[in-house]
Amino acid sequence: MLIAQITDLHIVREGELLSGRVDTRAALASCINKLASLSPKPTVLLISGDLTETATEEEYAFLTNQLDKLDFPTYVVPGNHDDRATMRRAFSGMANGESESPFCYSIDKPEWPLVLIGIDSTVARRSDGAICADRLKWLKEVLKKATPERPALIFMHHPPFKTGIAAMDACGILEGLTEFRHLISDHSDRVAGILCGHVHRVIHSSIAGVPVLLAPSSAHQITLDLHNDAPLSFTLEPSKIALHQWEENGGLVSHILYVDDFLGPYSF
Ligand SMILES: [Fe+2]
Ligand SMILES: [Fe+2]
Repeated sequence: MLIAQITDLHIVREGELLSGRVDTRAALASCINKLASLSPKPTVLLISGDLTETATEEEYAFLTNQLDKLDFPTYVVPGNHDDRATMRRAFSGMANGESESPFCYSIDKPEWPLVLIGIDSTVARRSDGAICADRLKWLKEVLKKATPERPALIFMHHPPFKTGIAAMDACGILEGLTEFRHLISDHSDRVAGILCGHVHRVIHSSIAGVPVLLAPSSAHQITLDLHNDAPLSFTLEPSKIALHQWEENGGLVSHILYVDDFLGPYSF
């Protein structure tokens, strides 16, 4: 099973640039063209939040129109820039529940070797996140669908660990983090991995041996600065897609694919 992941698209309103500089619509269109050209074809595309910048119907419509160009399914979870009710209208039927309730769901297809679990780690109108008691209870139940032979792949927006990028850690605190890590630790034999976004960079960690992988933004990156007092700043790097290959008995093997051609570096 080949799982493509993009994240932190931050689609802006038509005619606008993010921070006056970044054409996030063009970046997504390039990403979609690349995804559509891939061979072998991904089984599924996961988008781990911050789909839009301001969560308007029109921003989501641009995204869903682009996704219509793909002939494999896409599943999404919200990030702190998204809005649950508007997402439910744009991705009708993906996550059941009241319009403002957490956008959580699982995909359990017998023909797939993994159970997909999308967790909404957001808190409305806040940049930090939460996996509240209700979400933990739901996750514990849904993890029962998974087995060591057919494990779960979780995807969510906020990373369940500190990244060392101070400004993002400060705005990415995950309420319920300790309880979430305990739950994953208790079920580590039935979780293949956890895929996240939010920090816009490629970052790897683990919980009780379960790999946790942050995919890079398709649009723009946060500057890598590990000083405790580093301010939040952005860096334009080549747009990237994460590709996760699931091999039974071999676990999750993750690759990063550049979307466009770019100049250098030319080390060899
Ligand atoms: Fe983001
Ligand atoms: Fe975010």
